[in-house]
Amino acid sequence: MSEDARIESVLHEDRLFPPPQGIAERLGGALIGDLDQWREEHERALSDPDEYWGSVASKFWWAKSWDSVLRGTMPDTAWFDGGQTNVCFNCVDRHVVAGHGDQVGLVWEGEPTDDGTPEIRRLTWSMLQEEISRTANALRDLGVQSGDVVTIYMGMVPELAITMLACARIGAVHSVIFGGFSASAIADRVQDAQSKIVVTCDGSWRRGSVVPLKANVDEALASIDLVKHVLVLKRCKNDLEWHGGRDVWWHDVVDSASSECPCVPMDAEAPLFLLYTSGSTGKPKGILHTTAGYMVWTAHTAKNTFNLRADSDQMYWCTADCGWITGHSYIVYGIMPNRVPTLMYEGAPNAPAEDRFWDICARHKVTHFYTAPTAIRAFMKWGDEHPSRHDLSSLQVLGTVGEPINPEAWMWYYRVIGHERCPIVDTWWQTETGGHMITPLPCATPTVPGSCTLPAIGVDAAIVDQDGQEVPHGTGGLLAIRKPWPGMLRGIYGDRDRFMDTYWARLPGLYFAGDGARRDERGYFWIMGRVDDVINVSGHRMGTMEVESALVSHPSVVEAAVVGVPHEIKGTGIAAFCTLIPEQRPKTPEDQEALMAELRAHVGREIGAIAKPDLVRFTDALPKTRSGKIMRRLLRDVAAGVESTQDMTTLEDPKVLSQLRGEV
Ligand code: WTA
Repeated sequence: MSEDARIESVLHEDRLFPPPQGIAERLGGALIGDLDQWREEHERALSDPDEYWGSVASKFWWAKSWDSVLRGTMPDTAWFDGGQTNVCFNCVDRHVVAGHGDQVGLVWEGEPTDDGTPEIRRLTWSMLQEEISRTANALRDLGVQSGDVVTIYMGMVPELAITMLACARIGAVHSVIFGGFSASAIADRVQDAQSKIVVTCDGSWRRGSVVPLKANVDEALASIDLVKHVLVLKRCKNDLEWHGGRDVWWHDVVDSASSECPCVPMDAEAPLFLLYTSGSTGKPKGILHTTAGYMVWTAHTAKNTFNLRADSDQMYWCTADCGWITGHSYIVYGIMPNRVPTLMYEGAPNAPAEDRFWDICARHKVTHFYTAPTAIRAFMKWGDEHPSRHDLSSLQVLGTVGEPINPEAWMWYYRVIGHERCPIVDTWWQTETGGHMITPLPCATPTVPGSCTLPAIGVDAAIVDQDGQEVPHGTGGLLAIRKPWPGMLRGIYGDRDRFMDTYWARLPGLYFAGDGARRDERGYFWIMGRVDDVINVSGHRMGTMEVESALVSHPSVVEAAVVGVPHEIKGTGIAAFCTLIPEQRPKTPEDQEALMAELRAHVGREIGAIAKPDLVRFTDALPKTRSGKIMRRLLRDVAAGVESTQDMTTLEDPKVLSQLRGEV
């Protein structure tokens, strides 16, 4: 299907699902009960941000109140300037101080089920406070000071969240790297952030095998002379090499550290974390978020989007990894201030069997379940019998994030998982936005499969043309944000020019999100996907240039072009077109297969498994314009196997196209 036809088909989706009957009661009362209330708060936040965000922020703990709520204009805004707070205090200590120390704040389930039952840990707010304090003291003993960058490369164990919060507690800046990334991705990020300490695990469990995290760190650090200490948590008891003096066991230094460690009051705009994400160039960018604005934004959006209620039976589970922004904002920072237990699961959805997630939902009586469309499509394919075997009646709100959800997957989620009793919140947002930007509210917004509906309170989202002018409803355009919001990124670490070029140059005065979108006649937003050289693979951003650089670093490859290709489960897969040095051209189909496999493995080593191309094609030349630009749109059509609507007159060598077509 061409992109235009796809856009038309989703726009003609007219099934409308009002919030399910009784949902407000099941959620302990609606926070936003209807669209009038949403509109009233939304308009209040837009017309008087100082009043609105000041009153939201006053519900948090502050060491010192702010002088101004919002100062400056986009892109350079400061929120709650002059104020001092601590994110860890607001996530954890505040609940202990208020007498809720015995309530459970974090539930964790390990992947292995050797004897039929998985390992489960339930940490109360008091236990979290103690563990975080010990970890913070241990980090300090290893030389970490306020403002230092701590790299975290761990599996999904409680200590990952604990380390993040320990950094926040003492004003260190964390940089979490997803455990699926390779040694060279770690090296790039450690170097860019000039990080002197890495916290890792010996290994992490994934579908019954051990991912050798510590070995990956060793390999990454072999080429860098920067890191003084590697703090290693023993999780899998796998063998590892030990670098005396540099490497330190977690149980040696954390367990014996003092559990007294007061939270350091931090300036509102003090950096909280860096999170690297792919962009249009080969180098990932370190998105910078700061303290108070991010805290207020994530906690407020989490509360409204999920209708979170403390002192209820709520059990919230987001299936993301803390290595992505979804894990940062909606496993840890946005959820904890709301005093609702957050569940962390260590492993794969199909370990030991395809019903693992539903088994977890049933056993832990999960009320809020937040996952990605790619996972939903995999569940659909695995079959209804897996969820049907389990009692999913505890579920109240279902969320989705990361990529557009196709209406078919939405309907399956609604019927088979939610039994038509649970609203679906399709949340559009980005690493850069810190938290939800466009999303339904569970008790207020009638939903339409495939649309992320309406802006979050205080978000001035619009569809604009190349000049930044709003286009009429029904017309496609660029998704932009016209007013500042507290959780907006404050920069790209160490690269002001790139920050300005990427987000602020294309539409002067507006935040350019990089997505194409439309609004329908109801004003609902429909996200059409990236308009830059970023591919959304299984809801994870991959820069085409990053994958291309990895491919050309292989000795056989001269030139590579990478484009997205529709994929049944991943949404978008990666197609790579490569030209080879003549003597390396495969002569037999077997040689060809072997080289394809070798290139896929090479990209896996260079970046990580998520970047492995789904399709590799060899060609004598890439289709280029007369001025030498690779015609990516043409390659996209070839990869998707569709007739191209692209104008071919600019193609330099028409023979290239027939060769590409013949091979695909
Ligand atoms: C895409 C993930 C459609 C979009 C939180 C965005 C979505 C990119 C949705 C950000 C959604 C995220 N519907 N597309 N509900 N949510 N996206 O930084 O292209 O990993 O720009 O943040 O994911 O990806 P990121």
